Amino acid sequence: MVVKYQDFSYPTLQLSSALYAVAKLGIAEKLGFDLECKKKVSDIAKDLGANADYLFRTMHFLAVNGCFIEVPNEEGVFKHNDISLALVDPSIRAETLLINGVCHYRSFETLDETILTGKCQSGKALNSKDVWDFYAKNPDKEVDFARAMTAKTKRLAPILATLGDYSDFDTVCDIGGSQGILISEILSKNPNVKKGINFDLAAVLGNIKSEDRVHPVDHRYSECPGDFFVRVPAADCYILKMILHDWDDNKSKEILNTIGKSMNNNGRVHIIELIRDNQNPIDEKYLASMDLYMLQLFGAKERSLKQWEELLKDTPFVIDHVKNSAIPHGPNIIVLRKK
Ligand SMILES: C[S@@+](CC[C@H](N)C(=O)[O-])C[C@H]1O[C@@H](n2cnc3c(N)ncnc32)[C@H](O)[C@@H]1O
Repeated sequence: MVVKYQDFSYPTLQLSSALYAVAKLGIAEKLGFDLECKKKVSDIAKDLGANADYLFRTMHFLAVNGCFIEVPNEEGVFKHNDISLALVDPSIRAETLLINGVCHYRSFETLDETILTGKCQSGKALNSKDVWDFYAKNPDKEVDFARAMTAKTKRLAPILATLGDYSDFDTVCDIGGSQGILISEILSKNPNVKKGINFDLAAVLGNIKSEDRVHPVDHRYSECPGDFFVRVPAADCYILKMILHDWDDNKSKEILNTIGKSMNNNGRVHIIELIRDNQNPIDEKYLASMDLYMLQLFGAKERSLKQWEELLKDTPFVIDHVKNSAIPHGPNIIVLRKK
């Protein structure tokens, strides 16, 4: 039993650090871009100007734990498996750097205190008010965060822009739209939309680099800095993609109430989120992981449909209908209308 437990528990922290290191150093790309590529670790190390023995030991550890294959009978030679090959995708690399980066691993130092007190203690671990305050103080880390969000959104935007119906709206506003990927995709798929507003914190909009833009800037696209607890621009449709899972029920209600005050008549809100009881069964591991991130980073959660309905009671909105993207790890669109 002890041996089984040790095999389970010893590698956990190192998996995160080793994945972060190989992602940061671009090892997967150096190895090659398909399952047939193989390379001597000493050649990769030489190329990087890195220590060959240390790189070998890190890759050996990862291979033993399911990422990369150590080629039998060819000393120090590695090839890809499905897991390591995923890392050559720049969007997966960006996600890996965020998920295993400093903000996340520091935040989790106080999980035990969060559980004991029932209050999110990531701010204490980060020496900041909360995660957003940490990012405001560390703009380079905020860029890592925004790039990872963009990476996920880039993969999903083409599906979401057609899953949602935007044919009736003149103005669509993406609340917390980060680098503007989804609203740009919606504009490109919906010529009827006259105005697409990307609304986010001033610091986040100010950090958008031209290389992060996927679409040339459309004349209908605009950026509006602001705080969704204070005021949002007037629009016919508001998108909240992966926003409310970052906030507890009271704060989520505040955001929805702010939107309710600015929304044009017959408007809609599109909440784009995972729904606990509406996901594909293969999403369970991902869902549980996302839920624990939300708990420790923000004192928030992934919600079931019942929890969404409950949350909406103190807001001006009800659920009109739900659209399921039906792809693995894919979110749903919960369409709200005014009561
Ligand atoms: C989890 S990210 C989601 C980004 C984007 N919607 C996506 O799915 O790629 C949350 C976003 O909310 C923004 N945000 C946080 N607090 C905010 C506030 N008070 N007002 C406006 N935006 C805020 C963050 O800057 C960040 O871009």
